[in-house]
Amino acid sequence: MNDQSAIAAANGPTTATVATVPGVRAGDVRPVEVAIVIPTFNEAANVQPLLRVIDEVLPGVAWELIFVDDNSPDGTADRVRELAHADGRVRVVHRWGRRGLSSACVEGILASAAPYAVVMDADFQHDEAILPRMLDALRAGDVDLVVGSRYVEGGGLGDWSRRRVAISRTATWMANRLTGTPISDPMSGFFAVRRDAFMRSLPQLSSIGFKILLDLAASAPAPLSVREVPYVFRTRQRGESKLDSLVLWEYLQLLIDKTFGRYIPTRFISFMLVGGLGVLVHFTILTTGFKGLGTPFAVAQGAATAVAISSNFFLNNLLTYSDRRLRGRRLFWGWVTFNLVCATGAAANIGVADWLFERPVNWIASALAGIMVSVVWNYAMSSIFTWRKR
Ligand code: GDD
Ligand code: MN
Repeated sequence: MNDQSAIAAANGPTTATVATVPGVRAGDVRPVEVAIVIPTFNEAANVQPLLRVIDEVLPGVAWELIFVDDNSPDGTADRVRELAHADGRVRVVHRWGRRGLSSACVEGILASAAPYAVVMDADFQHDEAILPRMLDALRAGDVDLVVGSRYVEGGGLGDWSRRRVAISRTATWMANRLTGTPISDPMSGFFAVRRDAFMRSLPQLSSIGFKILLDLAASAPAPLSVREVPYVFRTRQRGESKLDSLVLWEYLQLLIDKTFGRYIPTRFISFMLVGGLGVLVHFTILTTGFKGLGTPFAVAQGAATAVAISSNFFLNNLLTYSDRRLRGRRLFWGWVTFNLVCATGAAANIGVADWLFERPVNWIASALAGIMVSVVWNYAMSSIFTWRKR
Protein backbone atom coordinates (compact mmCIF):
# COMPACT_ATOMS: atom_id res chain seq x y z
CA MET A 1 0.00 0.00 0.00
CA ASN A 2 1.44 3.39 -0.91
CA ASP A 3 1.27 6.51 1.27
CA GLN A 4 -1.78 7.97 -0.41
CA SER A 5 -3.96 4.89 -0.13
CA ALA A 6 -2.79 4.52 3.47
CA ILE A 7 -4.03 8.03 4.20
CA ALA A 8 -7.27 7.40 2.34
CA ALA A 9 -7.89 4.19 4.29
CA ALA A 10 -7.20 5.91 7.60
CA ASN A 11 -9.60 8.73 6.76
CA GLY A 12 -12.39 6.39 5.80
CA PRO A 13 -14.37 6.08 2.61
CA THR A 14 -16.05 9.50 2.71
CA THR A 15 -12.88 11.59 2.35
CA ALA A 16 -10.88 12.26 -0.77
CA THR A 17 -7.45 10.80 -1.33
CA VAL A 18 -5.41 13.62 0.22
CA ALA A 19 -4.61 14.35 3.84
CA THR A 20 -7.10 16.81 5.31
CA VAL A 21 -6.26 20.26 6.60
CA PRO A 22 -8.55 21.64 9.35
CA GLY A 23 -10.99 24.12 7.84
CA VAL A 24 -10.06 23.20 4.28
CA ARG A 25 -12.10 20.89 2.08
CA ALA A 26 -9.93 18.09 0.74
CA GLY A 27 -9.11 18.41 -2.94
CA ASP A 28 -9.58 15.63 -5.43
CA VAL A 29 -6.03 15.73 -6.75
CA ARG A 30 -3.33 13.50 -5.34
CA PRO A 31 -0.43 15.29 -3.67
CA VAL A 32 2.64 15.40 -5.88
CA GLU A 33 5.42 12.95 -4.99
CA VAL A 34 8.10 14.10 -7.40
CA ALA A 35 8.74 17.43 -9.09
CA ILE A 36 10.59 17.14 -12.37
CA VAL A 37 12.36 20.44 -12.90
CA ILE A 38 13.43 21.32 -16.44
CA PRO A 39 15.49 24.49 -16.98
CA THR A 40 14.82 25.85 -20.45
CA PHE A 41 16.23 28.44 -22.75
CA ASN A 42 14.99 28.29 -26.34
CA GLU A 43 13.58 24.78 -26.11
CA ALA A 44 10.12 25.40 -27.60
CA ALA A 45 10.35 22.36 -29.87
CA ASN A 46 11.25 20.05 -26.98
CA VAL A 47 8.59 20.73 -24.36
CA GLN A 48 5.74 18.71 -25.80
CA PRO A 49 7.82 15.63 -26.70
CA LEU A 50 9.25 15.77 -23.20
CA LEU A 51 5.83 15.72 -21.55
CA ARG A 52 4.97 12.69 -23.67
CA VAL A 53 8.02 10.64 -22.62
CA ILE A 54 7.68 11.57 -18.94
CA ASP A 55 4.09 10.42 -19.05
CA GLU A 56 5.22 7.11 -20.58
CA VAL A 57 8.08 6.30 -18.22
CA LEU A 58 6.35 7.14 -14.92
CA PRO A 59 2.94 5.44 -15.02
CA GLY A 60 1.01 5.68 -11.76
CA VAL A 61 3.46 8.17 -10.21
CA ALA A 62 2.13 11.53 -8.97
CA TRP A 63 4.60 13.81 -10.70
CA GLU A 64 4.56 17.41 -11.78
CA LEU A 65 6.63 18.87 -14.59
CA ILE A 66 8.01 22.34 -13.84
CA PHE A 67 9.69 24.23 -16.65
CA VAL A 68 11.83 27.13 -15.50
CA ASP A 69 12.23 29.43 -18.47
CA ASP A 70 14.31 32.60 -18.66
CA ASN A 71 11.94 34.38 -21.01
CA SER A 72 13.26 32.53 -24.08
CA PRO A 73 12.90 34.56 -27.28
CA ASP A 74 11.51 31.46 -29.05
CA GLY A 75 8.44 31.53 -26.79
CA THR A 76 9.18 28.37 -24.79
CA ALA A 77 7.19 29.70 -21.82
CA ASP A 78 4.09 30.22 -24.01
CA ARG A 79 4.38 26.67 -25.35
CA VAL A 80 4.52 25.39 -21.76
CA ARG A 81 1.43 27.41 -20.79
CA GLU A 82 -0.45 25.91 -23.74
CA LEU A 83 0.48 22.43 -22.52
CA ALA A 84 -0.52 23.36 -18.97
CA HIS A 85 -4.00 24.26 -20.19
CA ALA A 86 -4.40 20.68 -21.37
CA ASP A 87 -2.53 18.93 -18.55
CA GLY A 88 -2.64 20.19 -14.95
CA ARG A 89 0.60 18.42 -14.09
CA VAL A 90 2.56 20.91 -16.19
CA ARG A 91 3.67 24.26 -14.77
CA VAL A 92 5.95 27.09 -15.74
CA VAL A 93 8.16 29.37 -13.69
CA HIS A 94 8.70 32.25 -16.07
CA ARG A 95 11.70 34.34 -15.02
CA TRP A 96 12.22 37.84 -16.30
CA GLY A 97 15.47 39.78 -16.80
CA ARG A 98 17.70 36.97 -15.58
CA ARG A 99 19.73 34.09 -16.94
CA GLY A 100 21.33 31.11 -15.31
CA LEU A 101 20.96 27.36 -15.33
CA SER A 102 21.77 26.70 -11.66
CA SER A 103 19.53 29.40 -10.28
CA ALA A 104 16.72 28.19 -12.55
CA CYS A 105 16.99 24.67 -11.11
CA VAL A 106 17.01 26.01 -7.55
CA GLU A 107 13.91 28.12 -8.13
CA GLY A 108 12.12 25.24 -9.83
CA ILE A 109 12.71 22.97 -6.85
CA LEU A 110 11.62 25.73 -4.47
CA ALA A 111 8.39 26.21 -6.43
CA SER A 112 7.24 22.72 -5.48
CA ALA A 113 6.16 21.00 -2.25
CA ALA A 114 7.02 17.50 -3.48
CA PRO A 115 9.26 15.42 -1.19
CA TYR A 116 11.49 14.49 -4.17
CA ALA A 117 12.83 16.58 -7.02
CA VAL A 118 14.48 15.61 -10.28
CA VAL A 119 16.54 18.00 -12.39
CA MET A 120 16.83 17.14 -16.06
CA ASP A 121 17.63 18.93 -19.32
CA ALA A 122 14.93 19.66 -21.89
CA ASP A 123 16.87 18.39 -24.89
CA PHE A 124 16.63 14.58 -24.45
CA GLN A 125 20.36 14.25 -23.82
CA HIS A 126 19.49 12.84 -20.40
CA ASP A 127 17.93 9.40 -20.68
CA GLU A 128 14.47 9.54 -19.13
CA ALA A 129 14.34 5.73 -19.00
CA ILE A 130 16.32 5.75 -15.72
CA LEU A 131 13.79 7.98 -13.92
CA PRO A 132 11.91 5.06 -12.30
CA ARG A 133 15.18 3.68 -10.89
CA MET A 134 16.16 7.08 -9.57
CA LEU A 135 12.81 7.49 -7.88
CA ASP A 136 12.89 4.00 -6.37
CA ALA A 137 16.33 4.69 -4.92
CA LEU A 138 14.98 7.79 -3.14
CA ARG A 139 11.85 5.99 -1.99
CA ALA A 140 13.96 3.29 -0.36
CA GLY A 141 15.02 6.07 2.01
CA ASP A 142 18.72 5.34 2.40
CA VAL A 143 20.16 7.97 0.04
CA ASP A 144 19.85 11.76 -0.23
CA LEU A 145 20.86 12.06 -3.85
CA VAL A 146 20.71 9.92 -6.97
CA VAL A 147 22.98 10.98 -9.81
CA GLY A 148 22.55 10.03 -13.45
CA SER A 149 26.14 9.21 -14.30
CA ARG A 150 28.02 8.90 -17.58
CA TYR A 151 31.08 7.49 -15.87
CA VAL A 152 29.93 4.40 -13.98
CA GLU A 153 29.70 0.95 -15.56
CA GLY A 154 26.96 1.06 -18.18
CA GLY A 155 27.11 4.82 -18.69
CA GLY A 156 28.66 6.70 -21.57
CA LEU A 157 29.23 9.91 -23.40
CA GLY A 158 27.68 9.28 -26.78
CA ASP A 159 29.76 10.88 -29.54
CA TRP A 160 31.76 13.49 -27.65
CA SER A 161 34.94 14.91 -29.08
CA ARG A 162 38.14 13.83 -27.34
CA ARG A 163 38.76 17.42 -26.32
CA ARG A 164 35.41 17.65 -24.57
CA VAL A 165 36.00 14.31 -22.82
CA ALA A 166 39.37 15.58 -21.56
CA ILE A 167 37.88 18.86 -20.30
CA SER A 168 35.05 17.03 -18.57
CA ARG A 169 37.46 14.63 -16.86
CA THR A 170 39.68 17.44 -15.58
CA ALA A 171 36.70 19.38 -14.26
CA THR A 172 35.47 16.20 -12.56
CA TRP A 173 38.80 15.69 -10.85
CA MET A 174 38.78 19.29 -9.55
CA ALA A 175 35.24 18.90 -8.34
CA ASN A 176 36.02 15.81 -6.32
CA ARG A 177 38.91 17.61 -4.61
CA LEU A 178 36.41 20.28 -3.62
CA THR A 179 33.38 18.40 -2.35
CA GLY A 180 34.87 15.41 -0.60
CA THR A 181 31.73 13.56 -1.74
CA PRO A 182 32.79 10.85 -4.17
CA ILE A 183 30.58 11.28 -7.22
CA SER A 184 31.90 9.82 -10.47
CA ASP A 185 30.02 12.46 -12.49
CA PRO A 186 29.72 15.64 -10.38
CA MET A 187 29.26 17.66 -13.60
CA SER A 188 26.03 15.87 -14.37
CA GLY A 189 22.96 18.01 -14.87
CA PHE A 190 20.75 14.97 -14.26
CA PHE A 191 19.92 13.97 -10.70
CA ALA A 192 17.20 13.36 -8.12
CA VAL A 193 17.30 14.72 -4.59
CA ARG A 194 15.29 14.46 -1.39
CA ARG A 195 13.75 17.79 -0.46
CA ASP A 196 15.10 17.72 3.10
CA ALA A 197 18.65 17.21 1.81
CA PHE A 198 18.20 20.01 -0.72
CA MET A 199 16.92 22.32 2.01
CA ARG A 200 20.00 21.66 4.12
CA SER A 201 22.28 22.79 1.26
CA LEU A 202 20.10 25.74 0.26
CA PRO A 203 21.55 28.45 2.57
CA GLN A 204 25.07 27.81 1.25
CA LEU A 205 24.29 27.43 -2.47
CA SER A 206 26.23 29.68 -4.84
CA SER A 207 23.80 29.18 -7.75
CA ILE A 208 26.45 30.38 -10.19
CA GLY A 209 26.73 28.96 -13.68
CA PHE A 210 25.88 25.46 -14.86
CA LYS A 211 26.98 23.09 -12.14
CA ILE A 212 24.06 22.83 -9.78
CA LEU A 213 24.80 19.26 -8.69
CA LEU A 214 28.36 20.12 -7.70
CA ASP A 215 27.08 23.19 -5.89
CA LEU A 216 24.54 21.07 -4.01
CA ALA A 217 27.15 18.52 -2.91
CA ALA A 218 29.72 21.17 -1.96
CA SER A 219 27.14 23.18 0.02
CA ALA A 220 25.85 20.30 2.14
CA PRO A 221 26.66 20.75 5.85
CA ALA A 222 27.35 17.00 6.09
CA PRO A 223 28.38 14.76 3.16
CA LEU A 224 25.38 13.55 1.19
CA SER A 225 24.76 9.87 0.75
CA VAL A 226 24.79 9.26 -2.98
CA ARG A 227 23.82 6.54 -5.41
CA GLU A 228 24.70 6.67 -9.08
CA VAL A 229 22.64 5.27 -11.92
CA PRO A 230 24.36 4.89 -15.30
CA TYR A 231 23.00 6.34 -18.51
CA VAL A 232 24.36 7.17 -21.93
CA PHE A 233 24.43 10.87 -22.81
CA ARG A 234 22.56 11.30 -26.09
CA THR A 235 23.20 13.81 -28.83
CA ARG A 236 20.86 16.74 -29.07
CA GLN A 237 18.11 16.39 -31.69
CA ARG A 238 16.38 19.80 -31.62
CA GLY A 239 17.56 23.27 -30.65
CA GLU A 240 21.09 24.30 -29.72
CA SER A 241 23.44 23.93 -26.78
CA LYS A 242 23.87 26.99 -24.56
CA LEU A 243 27.27 25.94 -23.29
CA ASP A 244 29.74 28.50 -24.58
CA SER A 245 33.32 29.43 -23.80
CA LEU A 246 32.15 31.31 -20.71
CA VAL A 247 30.98 28.12 -19.06
CA LEU A 248 34.53 27.39 -18.04
CA TRP A 249 34.82 30.80 -16.45
CA GLU A 250 31.51 30.28 -14.62
CA TYR A 251 32.82 26.95 -13.40
CA LEU A 252 35.95 28.64 -12.02
CA GLN A 253 33.75 31.24 -10.34
CA LEU A 254 31.81 28.45 -8.65
CA LEU A 255 35.05 26.86 -7.41
CA ILE A 256 36.28 30.25 -6.16
CA ASP A 257 32.99 30.92 -4.45
CA LYS A 258 32.99 27.53 -2.73
CA THR A 259 36.57 28.10 -1.55
CA PHE A 260 36.74 31.82 -0.63
CA GLY A 261 33.10 32.93 -0.97
CA ARG A 262 32.57 32.88 2.74
CA TYR A 263 35.23 35.58 3.16
CA ILE A 264 34.90 37.76 0.04
CA PRO A 265 32.09 37.90 -2.53
CA THR A 266 33.11 36.14 -5.76
CA ARG A 267 31.91 39.08 -7.81
CA PHE A 268 34.33 41.31 -5.96
CA ILE A 269 37.19 38.89 -6.66
CA SER A 270 36.24 38.91 -10.33
CA PHE A 271 36.00 42.72 -10.29
CA MET A 272 39.51 42.95 -8.86
CA LEU A 273 40.91 40.47 -11.40
CA VAL A 274 39.43 42.59 -14.18
CA GLY A 275 40.89 45.68 -12.50
CA GLY A 276 44.31 43.97 -12.51
CA LEU A 277 43.97 43.40 -16.26
CA GLY A 278 42.99 47.06 -16.55
CA VAL A 279 46.34 48.05 -15.05
CA LEU A 280 48.09 45.99 -17.75
CA VAL A 281 46.00 47.68 -20.44
CA HIS A 282 46.83 51.04 -18.91
CA PHE A 283 50.58 50.44 -18.96
CA THR A 284 50.52 49.05 -22.49
CA ILE A 285 48.89 52.24 -23.82
CA LEU A 286 50.97 54.53 -21.61
CA THR A 287 54.26 52.94 -22.64
CA THR A 288 53.36 52.89 -26.33
CA GLY A 289 52.31 56.53 -26.24
CA PHE A 290 54.84 58.05 -23.88
CA LYS A 291 57.92 55.95 -24.64
CA GLY A 292 57.16 54.79 -28.19
CA LEU A 293 55.46 57.71 -29.89
CA GLY A 294 56.76 60.53 -27.71
CA THR A 295 53.25 61.65 -26.68
CA PRO A 296 53.34 64.08 -23.71
CA PHE A 297 52.98 62.17 -20.42
CA ALA A 298 49.69 63.78 -19.34
CA VAL A 299 48.07 63.00 -22.71
CA ALA A 300 49.32 59.41 -22.75
CA GLN A 301 48.21 58.93 -19.14
CA GLY A 302 44.77 60.36 -19.94
CA ALA A 303 44.33 58.13 -22.99
CA ALA A 304 45.52 55.08 -21.03
CA THR A 305 43.01 55.83 -18.26
CA ALA A 306 40.10 56.24 -20.67
CA VAL A 307 40.90 53.01 -22.53
CA ALA A 308 41.45 51.08 -19.29
CA ILE A 309 38.07 52.22 -17.92
CA SER A 310 36.31 51.11 -21.10
CA SER A 311 38.10 47.77 -21.22
CA ASN A 312 37.25 47.21 -17.54
CA PHE A 313 33.65 48.01 -18.33
CA PHE A 314 33.40 45.50 -21.19
CA LEU A 315 35.26 42.76 -19.32
CA ASN A 316 33.13 43.18 -16.22
CA ASN A 317 30.05 43.10 -18.38
CA LEU A 318 31.28 39.85 -19.93
CA LEU A 319 32.71 38.10 -16.86
CA THR A 320 31.73 39.66 -13.54
CA TYR A 321 28.13 40.32 -14.52
CA SER A 322 27.61 37.55 -17.08
CA ASP A 323 24.22 36.93 -15.45
CA ARG A 324 23.09 40.56 -15.85
CA ARG A 325 24.90 41.34 -19.08
CA LEU A 326 23.96 44.69 -20.65
CA ARG A 327 23.17 44.81 -24.36
CA GLY A 328 22.12 47.41 -26.93
CA ARG A 329 21.07 50.75 -25.45
CA ARG A 330 21.55 49.49 -21.92
CA LEU A 331 25.15 48.75 -22.84
CA PHE A 332 25.67 52.36 -23.84
CA TRP A 333 24.10 53.78 -20.65
CA GLY A 334 26.03 51.26 -18.58
CA TRP A 335 29.25 52.51 -20.13
CA VAL A 336 28.27 56.13 -19.34
CA THR A 337 27.43 55.38 -15.70
CA PHE A 338 30.58 53.28 -15.31
CA ASN A 339 32.71 56.22 -16.47
CA LEU A 340 30.95 58.51 -13.98
CA VAL A 341 31.40 55.98 -11.18
CA CYS A 342 35.10 55.61 -11.99
CA ALA A 343 35.58 59.38 -12.20
CA THR A 344 34.07 59.90 -8.74
CA GLY A 345 36.06 56.89 -7.54
CA ALA A 346 39.25 58.54 -8.76
CA ALA A 347 38.31 61.78 -6.99
CA ALA A 348 37.74 59.83 -3.76
CA ASN A 349 41.04 58.04 -4.30
CA ILE A 350 42.99 61.28 -4.62
CA GLY A 351 41.10 62.91 -1.75
CA VAL A 352 41.77 60.08 0.70
CA ALA A 353 45.39 59.60 -0.38
CA ASP A 354 46.09 63.30 -0.09
CA TRP A 355 44.40 63.57 3.30
CA LEU A 356 46.55 60.71 4.64
CA PHE A 357 49.67 62.10 3.02
CA GLU A 358 49.16 65.38 4.88
CA ARG A 359 49.18 63.41 8.17
CA PRO A 360 52.29 61.55 9.14
CA VAL A 361 51.49 58.63 6.79
CA ASN A 362 54.03 57.11 4.42
CA TRP A 363 53.35 58.05 0.76
CA ILE A 364 53.04 54.44 -0.45
CA ALA A 365 50.55 53.60 2.29
CA SER A 366 48.59 56.75 1.41
CA ALA A 367 48.47 55.78 -2.25
CA LEU A 368 47.39 52.20 -1.48
CA ALA A 369 44.65 53.41 0.86
CA GLY A 370 43.40 55.74 -1.90
CA ILE A 371 43.38 52.86 -4.39
CA MET A 372 41.50 50.57 -1.97
CA VAL A 373 38.85 53.25 -1.42
CA SER A 374 38.32 53.72 -5.15
CA VAL A 375 38.17 49.96 -5.86
CA VAL A 376 35.52 49.43 -3.21
CA TRP A 377 33.69 52.55 -4.34
CA ASN A 378 33.74 51.53 -8.00
CA TYR A 379 32.57 48.03 -7.15
CA ALA A 380 29.73 49.14 -4.88
CA MET A 381 28.53 52.03 -7.04
CA SER A 382 28.71 50.16 -10.35
CA SER A 383 26.72 47.31 -8.83
CA ILE A 384 24.02 49.85 -7.97
CA PHE A 385 24.07 52.15 -11.00
CA THR A 386 25.62 50.19 -13.87
CA TRP A 387 24.61 46.56 -13.33
CA ARG A 388 21.57 47.16 -11.20
CA LYS A 389 19.18 44.29 -10.57
CA ARG A 390 16.18 44.64 -12.79
N1 GDD B 1 16.36 28.61 -17.45
C1 GDD B 1 17.53 28.46 -18.09
N2 GDD B 1 18.41 29.51 -18.10
N3 GDD B 1 17.81 27.30 -18.70
C2 GDD B 1 18.99 27.18 -19.35
C3 GDD B 1 19.94 28.23 -19.41
C4 GDD B 1 19.61 29.45 -18.74
O1 GDD B 1 20.37 30.42 -18.74
N4 GDD B 1 21.02 27.79 -20.12
C5 GDD B 1 20.73 26.52 -20.50
N5 GDD B 1 19.51 26.16 -20.05
C6 GDD B 1 18.82 24.86 -20.22
C7 GDD B 1 18.75 24.36 -21.65
O2 GDD B 1 17.60 24.83 -22.30
C8 GDD B 1 18.72 22.85 -21.44
O3 GDD B 1 17.44 22.39 -21.12
C9 GDD B 1 19.62 22.66 -20.22
O4 GDD B 1 19.61 23.90 -19.52
C10 GDD B 1 21.05 22.26 -20.57
O5 GDD B 1 21.59 23.18 -21.49
P1 GDD B 1 22.46 22.70 -22.74
O6 GDD B 1 22.82 23.91 -23.50
O7 GDD B 1 21.74 21.62 -23.48
O8 GDD B 1 23.76 22.15 -21.99
P2 GDD B 1 24.69 20.91 -22.39
O9 GDD B 1 23.93 19.81 -23.04
O10 GDD B 1 25.85 21.42 -23.13
O11 GDD B 1 25.18 20.41 -20.94
C11 GDD B 1 24.27 19.77 -20.06
O12 GDD B 1 24.53 18.44 -19.78
C12 GDD B 1 25.77 18.19 -19.10
C13 GDD B 1 25.86 16.75 -18.78
O13 GDD B 1 24.83 16.35 -17.90
C14 GDD B 1 24.24 20.53 -18.73
O14 GDD B 1 23.21 19.99 -17.92
C15 GDD B 1 25.56 20.43 -18.04
O15 GDD B 1 25.50 21.08 -16.77
C16 GDD B 1 25.89 18.98 -17.83
O16 GDD B 1 27.21 18.85 -17.35
MN1 MN C 1 22.15 19.67 -23.80
